[in-house]
Amino acid sequence: MKDINNQMGLNSVWTESLARNLHPDSDALVDHLRTVHQEHTGFTEACASTCRDEVGRNSYEWLAEIVPDSKGLNVLDLACGSGPLLKILFDRNKNLNLKGIDMCPEELGLAKTLLLNSGVDLIESKAQDLTAINDNSVDIVLCHWALTLMDPIVPVLDEVRRVLTSKGCFAALVDGPINSAPNYKEVHDLIYSYVQEEMPSYGKIDLGDPRIRGSESLRNLARKAFPEAKVTIETNVVSMEGPVTQVAEIASGFFYAAFVLKPEKRKSMITSLSNILVISNGSNHAERHGRFSMPISRLLVMPDIK
Ligand SMILES: C[S@@+](CC[C@H](N)C(=O)[O-])C[C@H]1O[C@@H](n2cnc3c(N)ncnc32)[C@H](O)[C@@H]1O
Repeated sequence: MKDINNQMGLNSVWTESLARNLHPDSDALVDHLRTVHQEHTGFTEACASTCRDEVGRNSYEWLAEIVPDSKGLNVLDLACGSGPLLKILFDRNKNLNLKGIDMCPEELGLAKTLLLNSGVDLIESKAQDLTAINDNSVDIVLCHWALTLMDPIVPVLDEVRRVLTSKGCFAALVDGPINSAPNYKEVHDLIYSYVQEEMPSYGKIDLGDPRIRGSESLRNLARKAFPEAKVTIETNVVSMEGPVTQVAEIASGFFYAAFVLKPEKRKSMITSLSNILVISNGSNHAERHGRFSMPISRLLVMPDIK
């Protein structure tokens, strides 16, 4: 029996397995992700919507640019969460046929509210088994900040390949190279150091397939799954500024690791994080201003037109 919020800030089969020095399996991963998203529904949208690149786009808008403004395109948002990417696409072009898939019912519940009366088809399913979608039926598959969480990953890429038309395109937003945004590695290392005090192997073992986190290994995986396609990876940086404690809260929301901290420990981590992120000290503590930047990458798998 799983005991949520007992020894840890959040307890799942995955964290229990890690605490016992075992290697969690894919069912434990699904249980962990469902637990995090059940407890903190909508957190990705809240964090990712606020961070913008140099020209003012958030990561959803950057990914949405892949979809041309043509009529009748079939677009699938894989692991759509609370639906922000689908909402951007729907608001921009009512003539798209949009579908969203996610394995977390609470996130899909939020997406249903966000996309009320839009006609967007929302389906509860795992990305490894897209039986609800016909072969060769989708023009564009998008995946925003979720590929990194999927293990096994090869069946996901095989399913994407199966549902795409021969001229179809797959685009995914993933974490970018750790050193390509100022202070990002420091933020990452700080959060993991807090978590590792309680669970030493968190980090050595992490969510998802580690090959998605490295540009070269990601490129190789995508080339193997889509041998006839052109595979490219672009990088970008998104940032946000504001009262430093608020910035630290948002920054920590990008790290699933932060959710396993107990409330007291989390509070202390946010204080340390604020000290890394501060950019100007006001006359009192409440006025301290902070900035958080994070690297992002956009994987593009396009038909190779020679
Ligand atoms: C970080 S959130 C991203 C949500 C949304 N794409 C966004 O960016 O706002 C990750 C989402 O992936 C979903 N997810 C993770 N692994 C999945 C899998 N194997 N199949 C389907 N959904 C999955 C989770 O339920 C969660 O909603």
